Amino acid sequence: MKFIDEIKRRRTFGIISHPDAGKTTLTEKLLLFGGAIQEAGAVKSNKIKKGATSDFMEIERQRGISVATSVLAFEYKDIKINILDTPGHKDFAEDTFRTLTAVDSVIVVIDVAKGVEEQTEKLVSVCRMRNIPMIVFINKLDREGKDAFELLDEIEQKLGLKVTPLSFPIGMGYDFKGIYNIWEKNVNLFSGDSRKNIEETIEISDLSSNELNSIIGDTAAEDLRGELELVDGVYPSFDPEAYQDGTLQPVFFGSALNNFGVRELLDCFINIAPFPRAKESDTRIVAPDEEKFTGFVFKIHANMDPKHRDRLAFIKIVSGTFERNVPYLHTRLNKKLKFSSPNAFFAEKKQIVDISYPGDIVGLHDTGNFKIGDTLTSGEKLLYKGIPSFSPEHFRYINNADPMKSKQLAKGIDQLMDEGVAQLFTLEFNNRKVIGTVGALQYEVIQYRLEHEYGAKCTYENLNVHKACWVDPKDDKSDEFKEFKRIKSKFLAVDKHGQLVFLADSYFSLQMTEQKFPNITFHSTSEF
Ligand code: G4P
Repeated sequence: MKFIDEIKRRRTFGIISHPDAGKTTLTEKLLLFGGAIQEAGAVKSNKIKKGATSDFMEIERQRGISVATSVLAFEYKDIKINILDTPGHKDFAEDTFRTLTAVDSVIVVIDVAKGVEEQTEKLVSVCRMRNIPMIVFINKLDREGKDAFELLDEIEQKLGLKVTPLSFPIGMGYDFKGIYNIWEKNVNLFSGDSRKNIEETIEISDLSSNELNSIIGDTAAEDLRGELELVDGVYPSFDPEAYQDGTLQPVFFGSALNNFGVRELLDCFINIAPFPRAKESDTRIVAPDEEKFTGFVFKIHANMDPKHRDRLAFIKIVSGTFERNVPYLHTRLNKKLKFSSPNAFFAEKKQIVDISYPGDIVGLHDTGNFKIGDTLTSGEKLLYKGIPSFSPEHFRYINNADPMKSKQLAKGIDQLMDEGVAQLFTLEFNNRKVIGTVGALQYEVIQYRLEHEYGAKCTYENLNVHKACWVDPKDDKSDEFKEFKRIKSKFLAVDKHGQLVFLADSYFSLQMTEQKFPNITFHSTSEF
């Protein structure tokens, strides 16, 4: 197959949702369609069960599963599909944000009864910032939920999206009869039998025909006609370009658990979802069909076996082909590296591959060379942008609890930060180290892993920080900036890249500082 055709047949995407909306179930059904797994229940949930905060075995188990499900690849109708797993737990949101830098599109799963939830809002706002094409799947139609129009309104308002339904439910919950597929113009009847994989599909080319009445009954047929008329009047017709630009989001309805509406979603997805896109680097925009290889690290996974401290770095291929045993330039270190056993992912297995194409993810064994955001190329000096750090929500001093093991502690912290488990800030005035995380769970993960993988012990001390802001002065030689540094010296730190960060202790103090120093910008992410 020609190189360009290999690119065009790849779809690399992520499924995002609030926990429990049905992401795992949907993933599993998609894999069933691809023939990648044979039975339901094969995809293990990487969810951290409620109340698992102090259950370290649970964390370790979860880490094990999340290696296995980091990338799930399968083929469907000659399309190579790569699903990148995103942790649903909010304490791991940062991980999900980074994974979103490696997807070409996303599917957003929403629970019909719960509607738009907090985690969905956060994740969708990141996708919107990056103009990532999104398809919305409204799940659990077999249960009572919100009215379809009400839900579409909520999605538009809370998520700031412009939607257009490509399917529409016929009834709901107890009265759920099926789905009218606006995209394919047919009706799928719901049998409620979860063992049945392929539902009954009836072509309806003319909605006004009596055939519809005989299939779903007079009342439902009338309701459906009225609703579809409204859909037609209210929502824009589907425009593939607007979808690919991230300005229009098609919506599907279904029930993942019953494998209902999933085939329609998948068939439409492989048709409209973008193949790998061009990506911006610090020097230029790189197109996927360029001959020379480039790619970047979006995830690092530590080995589960503490005796082997090697890690798996996940690289998204942006352009060219990645080949086994060929030396590539690690642009940050300016060092050539070659890889004898790059892993590719198939369903839940990984295996060594000789060649991978744009859109694919390869897992490289790493002994400490990689950090998140690193770029590999065939020789060109460029760095991919777009893996910013966000302000953490929790901040604690980290102290060494075993003076004999300070080296181990420093190394452990360094490596865990490279993996992106949390963010490290070093206070300027006293050099103390502060760990910032998205959720409280990470502190326990860090403490546990430092002890078990590095033999180091730590304690924490609370620190009152409202928000970390990356400091960007118009002129770093100005008196204003000097004054800011003098007055706020106790609140200034550097992040792991040496960038200056203001650790504001309250919303109020941040506002006052912004007013007082108008020529300094305070950014909420590290990339600006
Ligand atoms: P997540 O990955 O987004 O967190 O959600 P997951 O797929 O694990 O689904 C959460 C719960 O919702 C599961 O039930 C799952 O069976 C159920 N579910 C998913 N899709 C549907 C659907 O279309 N209809 C209905 N009625 N339920 C659905 P659970 O009881 O929490 O877990 P389990 O014991 O079934 O695994």
